[in-house]
Amino acid sequence: MANVPVSDVDLYTDEARVDPYPIYERLRGQGPVVHLPRYDLYALPRYEQVRTALMDWKTFTSARGVFVDPEMNAQLEGITLCSDPPEHTMLRGVLGRPLRQDRMRDVAPRIEAEADRVVTRLVERGRFDAATELAEHLPMTVVSDLVGLPDRGRAKMLDWAAAIWDVQGPANARFAKAMPSVEEFIAFAVNDAVPGNLDPDGWAAHLYQAADRGELPRDKCPVMMLDYVTPSLDTTILAITNTIALFARHPDQWELLRSDRTLIPHAINESLRLESPVPQFSRVLTEDHEIDGVALPAGSRVALLYGSANRDERHYPDPTRFDITRRPSDHLAFGRGEHVCVGMHLARLEMTALLERLADRVTGFEVVSSTPMINNGLRGLEHLEVIAHTTG
Ligand code: HEM
Repeated sequence: MANVPVSDVDLYTDEARVDPYPIYERLRGQGPVVHLPRYDLYALPRYEQVRTALMDWKTFTSARGVFVDPEMNAQLEGITLCSDPPEHTMLRGVLGRPLRQDRMRDVAPRIEAEADRVVTRLVERGRFDAATELAEHLPMTVVSDLVGLPDRGRAKMLDWAAAIWDVQGPANARFAKAMPSVEEFIAFAVNDAVPGNLDPDGWAAHLYQAADRGELPRDKCPVMMLDYVTPSLDTTILAITNTIALFARHPDQWELLRSDRTLIPHAINESLRLESPVPQFSRVLTEDHEIDGVALPAGSRVALLYGSANRDERHYPDPTRFDITRRPSDHLAFGRGEHVCVGMHLARLEMTALLERLADRVTGFEVVSSTPMINNGLRGLEHLEVIAHTTG
């Protein structure tokens, strides 16, 4: 039986949050499993093992939390993300109803109209922040409307969501700073985001309506609000911003996309592969388990490094190259298996609408400046000031 390689790297320093890729490359080189004693995590840095783990929820449980800090894993127990079948099947059935691919037909016209409006306005101006002015627009207008929280909640959704992502890491300074916002959100979800205050046609109200029909225990509703608010905003905002940054660095790829719009879905996958907004989640082993000859005891917390797996040279040749003809539809940026992102159709719809409208008008992007986001659970750019060049 092989020994587990060990690494003393800290995946949560500012430097590692901004650029984890050299660390990921070292970990991939060390082996299929690497012990990170600092947070007692067994990291899976390569593609094959991450994918295998995602497809085996019985061995790799989510029910003991998918984050790093033990207290946070205990506190958020029971949200959809942190449950296993059969409970997960019941929760996801309700949660995912408005997000199903066939339901996207209802929201597509609004998303496309808003995409047209924001792109027209920004392109006319020529210079804008692709993160706060372009990428935030659809999640903060259409998506927050669809969730249907009371006004006070809508205004704070982005702050709360970023805080909840921060407490997904270890109990470091970023985690401590985020805690008051997390508590504020939980109090809001329990006390304010209740029927009567919610848009009766929104996703949040639908949770309570499902509980009234007996499809869901009512006490699950407040915590399930977290499943809507946390993952629906920053993830997509970062994905859009990362995509613009990649096209700015690779004008030939933008040219290619403009000449062949059928490449848009592949470009979205390639961007998510190369710059995954959610670089990791974790699982716990329900029994002693061997991964590629390495024996791990039951109870081990295993970190699934999506951001590393998506750049595994064993799976993607020349992995750091941004190539929109690559067609990497098997990337792991949305996870896989039981917990595969339930909002991915919505995220793809938002990204497609913006890329279509930008491709109509913009011949190239020039980066003026950028600021990285430093967050325990997310990765990407907080600001990306660009000049959009047009033919006219
Ligand atoms: C590009 C944008 C997005 C990315 C990169 C992303 C990423 C992910 C990933 C990696 C997972 C898997 C979690 C795991 O393995 O345990 C996930 C699950 C999830 N995502 Fe997304 N997501 C995005 C957009 C969205 C949107 C727009 C929503 C809308 C509500 C959403 C809602 C969820 C929910 C509720 C889950 C939990 C599903 C479950 O546990 O069954 N996500 N997402």
